[in-house]
Amino acid sequence: MSRVAVAGAGYVGLTTAACLADLGNEVVAVDIDQDRIKMLRRHRLPIYEPGLREVVERNARAGRLSFTTCYEEAVPGADYAFIAVATPEGAEGAADLSYVEAAARSVAENMNGPLVVVNKSTVPIGTGDFVSRVLAKHAGEHRFDVVSNPEFLREGSALADFMQPDRVVIGAHRREAADLVAKLYEPLNAPILLTTMYTAEMIKYASNSFLATRISFINEMARICERVDADVKVVSEGMGLDRRIGSLFLEAGIGYGGSCFPKDVKALAATAKEYGYHPELLRAVMDINQDQQRLVIEKLKDCLGSLRGQVVGLLGLAFKPNTDDLREAPSLEIARGLLAKGATVRAYDPAAMVRAKRLLPDVNYRRDAYQVARGADAIAVITEWNEFKLLDLPRVRRSMRRPVVVDGRNIYDPVQMRDLGFVYRGIGRN
Ligand SMILES: NC(=O)c1ccc[n+]([C@@H]2O[C@H](COP(=O)([O-])OP(=O)(O)OC[C@H]3O[C@@H](n4cnc5c(N)ncnc54)[C@H](O)[C@@H]3O)[C@@H](O)[C@H]2O)c1
Repeated sequence: MSRVAVAGAGYVGLTTAACLADLGNEVVAVDIDQDRIKMLRRHRLPIYEPGLREVVERNARAGRLSFTTCYEEAVPGADYAFIAVATPEGAEGAADLSYVEAAARSVAENMNGPLVVVNKSTVPIGTGDFVSRVLAKHAGEHRFDVVSNPEFLREGSALADFMQPDRVVIGAHRREAADLVAKLYEPLNAPILLTTMYTAEMIKYASNSFLATRISFINEMARICERVDADVKVVSEGMGLDRRIGSLFLEAGIGYGGSCFPKDVKALAATAKEYGYHPELLRAVMDINQDQQRLVIEKLKDCLGSLRGQVVGLLGLAFKPNTDDLREAPSLEIARGLLAKGATVRAYDPAAMVRAKRLLPDVNYRRDAYQVARGADAIAVITEWNEFKLLDLPRVRRSMRRPVVVDGRNIYDPVQMRDLGFVYRGIGRN
């Protein structure tokens, strides 16, 4: 059993804290957001993440997991301090490290013995050294190590991703420090890759950039498919059956969003530029993604003519299913674009409406997909939640004023949709 402090109780920090407690460690999660901590103390989750509430409650009741806004309650006596705070996009696409810096400083000011500081936030190469400098300045005589341990979990399946990871990456300047962090992960029986600090930091950016590249690649194929009358969904299936390629992250749609891919590709491109390298491929990945998000509006215009006065319904708002996260969600651009063009926009999302109401106050929110469709001139599928795949489509068709469906995630069958009387537009399939 080890004593662990986790700074930041968001998607990554909270999952890390709950899972490390579930493995038998004594964990204190510290967050500067008082409301968040208040909720967590009542075993209520500030985020939507399937299954996480039960793990939080179980471990909190067992006394292994607690929550605080005070570093004084979290850090003294800890063996490890994880930093899992946000690293949003900063100036010129580079990562904003101010939250990491503040967390590192608070850790340093409250440590009272040797400590392994583990950087879980996604940070530019060299940030481990930056954290070391912050610690050195504020930690007095206390010994510390800084270890990079990037996180690969996905929102929506965070628990399983943490508990059964494809790999755990641990990078440090000192092997002994990396070994100490590896000990925490031993119960998972997962492959552990021990490497240098810079390589570990780079693995995270390279992985996310590669996944984003696959998405932009298949979206480019979709553009070509539309022109040559091929079906990108079948093209993707045919490619994915090749074991060298695989089928994941090969679905054409309205582009990637979320709190990671957009900012991480940008941040890696910014790092490359800083070191005098022009990242040609990363630039293309970002450009294709931006164009892709405009497609929904283009296709709606194509079907409806002018958008002024038209009622457009959005199915889904979160950047992907099984999360309430709206950071860099394509829905934001699309809804704002439609409103700017004079359309009336209504929407439904199973998890993201509370957050959406703050960001998109001019959208009308409905309680389900059928309410969105009723009397609408068009609906657009923005997020591929399972419940949209199972809709009673004849009922949807009957209730719409005009039967236009723009399927930004290719969840419906074009032939069936046409047979049902819809004017249907997918992505990369005619
Ligand atoms: N969300 C993901 O799917 C995911 C996956 C892998 C890696 N990451 C990376 O993990 C990091 C965290 O992402 P997230 O999605 O969990 O962010 P988040 O915004 O959900 O959570 C960050 C939390 O940190 C808190 N915080 C800010 N400053 C603090 C401070 N000084 N001390 C204590 N708490 C502080 C915030 O209040 C917030 O609760 C980012 O670098 C991100 O790129 C995210």
